[in-house]
Amino acid sequence: MNRKRLKSLFLSLATAKQWWENGNFYQIYPRSYKDSNGDGVGDLNGITQKLQYIKDLGIDGAWISPIFKSPMVDFGYDTADYYQIHYEYGTMEDMENLLKKAKEIGLKIILDFVPNHTSDQHEWFKKSVLKEGDYTDFYVWHDGIKKDDNSQPDPPNNWVSVFRYPAWKWNEQRKQYYLHQFAAQQPDLNYRNPKVVEAMKNVLRFWLSKGVSGFRVDAVPFMFEVAPFSNGSYPDEPVNPDCPDKDDYCHTFHIYTNDQPETYDMIYQWRQILDEFRTENGGDDRVMLTEAYTNLTNIIKFYGNETRNGSHVPFNFDLLTETITDQTAANFHTHIHKFLDLVPKHQYANWVLGNHDNNRVASRYGKNRADLLNILLQTLPGIAVTYNGEEIAMTDVFIPWNETVDPQACNTNPDVFQSFSRDPARTPFQWDASTNAGFSTARKTWLPVSADYKTNNVLMQQHAPISHLHIFKKLLKLRDEPSFDQGTFESQLVNSDVIVYKRELTGSDIYVVVLNFGTTSHQIDLKSIYSGIGSKLEVITTSLQSGYKDGDLIQGTNVTAYPEVGTVFVSIK
Ligand code: GLC
Repeated sequence: MNRKRLKSLFLSLATAKQWWENGNFYQIYPRSYKDSNGDGVGDLNGITQKLQYIKDLGIDGAWISPIFKSPMVDFGYDTADYYQIHYEYGTMEDMENLLKKAKEIGLKIILDFVPNHTSDQHEWFKKSVLKEGDYTDFYVWHDGIKKDDNSQPDPPNNWVSVFRYPAWKWNEQRKQYYLHQFAAQQPDLNYRNPKVVEAMKNVLRFWLSKGVSGFRVDAVPFMFEVAPFSNGSYPDEPVNPDCPDKDDYCHTFHIYTNDQPETYDMIYQWRQILDEFRTENGGDDRVMLTEAYTNLTNIIKFYGNETRNGSHVPFNFDLLTETITDQTAANFHTHIHKFLDLVPKHQYANWVLGNHDNNRVASRYGKNRADLLNILLQTLPGIAVTYNGEEIAMTDVFIPWNETVDPQACNTNPDVFQSFSRDPARTPFQWDASTNAGFSTARKTWLPVSADYKTNNVLMQQHAPISHLHIFKKLLKLRDEPSFDQGTFESQLVNSDVIVYKRELTGSDIYVVVLNFGTTSHQIDLKSIYSGIGSKLEVITTSLQSGYKDGDLIQGTNVTAYPEVGTVFVSIK
């Protein structure tokens, strides 16, 4: 091969589309996905059994919520050992099998990396309590504010935990306070200590060498706190006058505990670990997905800058958080464009509508609108992220106070817990109509199975002539079409209920998506909006309760936007 050909081969390889670009990610909540050993808790072997199902959906990468050793105070988000598998989930061998099977079928596995805090059962914390060598400063310790009578000092300042109550807990043994931005059993690591930084990088390296394709990084904005003053004290956060309850997280504005400038550099450093690993070991890109509920300006910073690469997928929660109270087409339209306008050149937009921390899509927007939202998610330009169960439109399950297990809710009281509890969105996955929805053979599952599982499950939807699942799969296939993969996005808010957009790439089919968020029907002349489309349109896929069915041929001048229905059309030349 001459040098010129070699160079062009190199260039085409270098520019070949990577698996995650415009990719489709699926979140597995391991406790609730599939229980293979009948103890009522999902596990790794259960996930392995279902990898083919995920692959068949058309997913590129599955990220699994934490699977490491944990006392499960926050269901795995309290890690007791980053190098061991939690016993209820299986063994390291099970994990290796899972990775092997995923590799065989061409599905990428992403692990959840929880860097902000460990469990208080982690060896590092135990050693830190004892002030053992390097571990002494692994966490954020403080004497507190001394009292005249020499009794237990007051907490260092007014910082509040996300899960309620002061973010500082007194440790009787070390006679100091430690910081915990979540549960008291989740002490915050001290990222101003280079030894912590290195220890956490080693965790990444270990799992990369086991064969994972990347990480979803948890609770990113919390990693750094403001540096203490020279006398060691930390400033109070300003008080929010609209939230007088001093134990509630809303009581302060989190200007010293969230979004500190050092956070971005840490993300860029981790990206470097991923890139170096690929350079040294070959294979496909290893990727980073970052979880940060923060403003869009900050989200964009995670992507990186001219000189440094950052997160491949800085989760965009804007659609999720900004549409909870205002679910109008206009509001969706605004937030779609807000993000698209900000995404840096050569980066991918991404869209998240659900996860294990938020109410399910079908419960938030109404069951009727489940397909509409899936159609939106899958036809926007960029990367789509789906929480397990949304493909069959699972709904939240009411869990009474006395059965509630989520620490965020348990720290509240029977009157208000429902607005804090994340249990309703975490109930077992509904596979079929057998006992416990085919999730488990146990007499009791860790959270109750939804009462509707006999009429809403994967098996039934696979066999039904039309179903949420069929729509979901069709949408994922559609994303391979050049117009969706690389085409332009031209949208319009037609009226207060309806958004339409066109996806087009020269030389390929033209698609038009019509989304009616309202509860009344509208007639739309799509030809007058997009003059370049053919006079006829064919329905590719549409919501369950649509007046159309797949394959219908419609006049482009007179399209019905049925209530709460999304439809994808292809233009007929
Ligand atoms: C993230 C997780 C959430 C967890 C919290 C603390 O937000 O998604 O489930 O409780 O971090 O780790």
